[in-house]
Formats: sequence, structure tokens, C-alpha cells
Amino acid sequence: MALAAWRLTYRNRLPPEAIERFLARAYSEQRVALRIRRHRVLVAGRASDDGAEWPVEAFAELAVQHDHVQLIALYVIAGLRGNGLGSALLEAVAASFPGRDLAADVLEDNDLAEPFYAARGFTPGEAHTDEVGGAPVRLHRWWLRARG
Ligand SMILES: CC(C)(COP(=O)(O)OP(=O)(O)OC[C@H]1O[C@@H](n2cnc3c(N)ncnc32)[C@H](O)[C@@H]1OP(=O)(O)O)[C@@H](O)C(=O)NCCC(=O)NCCS
Repeated sequence: MALAAWRLTYRNRLPPEAIERFLARAYSEQRVALRIRRHRVLVAGRASDDGAEWPVEAFAELAVQHDHVQLIALYVIAGLRGNGLGSALLEAVAASFPGRDLAADVLEDNDLAEPFYAARGFTPGEAHTDEVGGAPVRLHRWWLRARG
């Protein structure tokens, strides 16, 4: 689901070959296994009517750093966006780390993510340049500051 969500999100923002280069490296089976071991990963999905199946339809990946929690990935499967899964994951993340600042690096002009974070109390902070699969990208770090 990460591959599908990623391709859809960035298809008009990054060259296709850069997307595929990035995914081959960052989301290979071995790399995903390593990411799950190293990071905190929360998943969400809707149970089937009989409760027998519970597919992963959204996930959040976090790295706990000394001064804040970094949201490395937050993705909802394409057909299910706008149904509350992203908000539910974000609430679970915030509840897991009370008193800690939360940061998310968002590609400039990601018109799904920017309003989503803004509506949930995040504010845009510092910008930086990085690369994705060899393509230069501009990112903004959005912050949800812990209260108190
Ligand atoms: C950003 C994202 C994680 C939000 O998750 P989500 O489950 O769609 O979020 P929610 O349903 O909880 O809330 C989405 C908001 O968009 C609105 N919305 C309505 N229809 C929507 C749709 N078809 N798609 C997306 N959002 C929609 C919702 O009403 C809600 O608005 P609100 O702020 O006024 O409440 C998800 O859209 C996504 O995976 N985007 C692509 C990946 C991405 O950009 N990730 C962030 C990388 S840093």
C-alpha cells in the first residue's frame, strides 16, 4: 500500500523515474522490515463486517528523536482519503507522545498534506532542499508544538 500511495501522491510532482528509484531503495521488502524494526509504525484500516479481516489501509512511521518526534511517513490508500484514517493515526501518534513536539517534512505544494496538517494545529517552519530518487525537492518542516 505504501508503493501505491506514494506513486499516486507524487505522480504529478516528481519525475516517474525518480519515484521508482526512490521506492526501489526506500520501500524494498528488506528496507521496510528494517524501518519497522527501527521506527514506530502505526497502522489503521476498517475491519470487515464479520471482523475476520483487517487490511492495512493507512500507516504512520515515526522516529523518536531526542527533542521531538519526527513523522517520517503518513499515508492513506487512495480511495479512502477523506474518511478520517489520517486524523485517527495522527491522534494516536500525539497521544503516544504527550508533551513532545511533532514534526513532519512536507513536499512544497503537497495540496493534500498542507491543509491537513494546518487544520490539525501544525504550523510551517523551516524549509530545506533534499533529493528524492535523484530529483531535487523542496520541503517544509511542519510543527505541532506540545502545549505547556
Ligand atoms: C494527508 C493524508 C494522510 C490525510 O489522511 P486522510 O485520511 O485523508 O485525512 P482525514 O480523512 O482524517 O482528513 C482529511 C481532510 O480532507 C478532507 N477531504 C475530503 N475529501 C477528501 C479526499 N477525497 N481526499 C483527501 N481529503 C479529503 C477531509 O474532510 C478532511 O478535511 P478537514 O481538515 O476539514 O477535516 C492523506 O490524504 C494522504 O495519504 N495523502 C497523500 C500522502 C501525503 O501527502 N502524506 C503526507 C506526507 S508528509
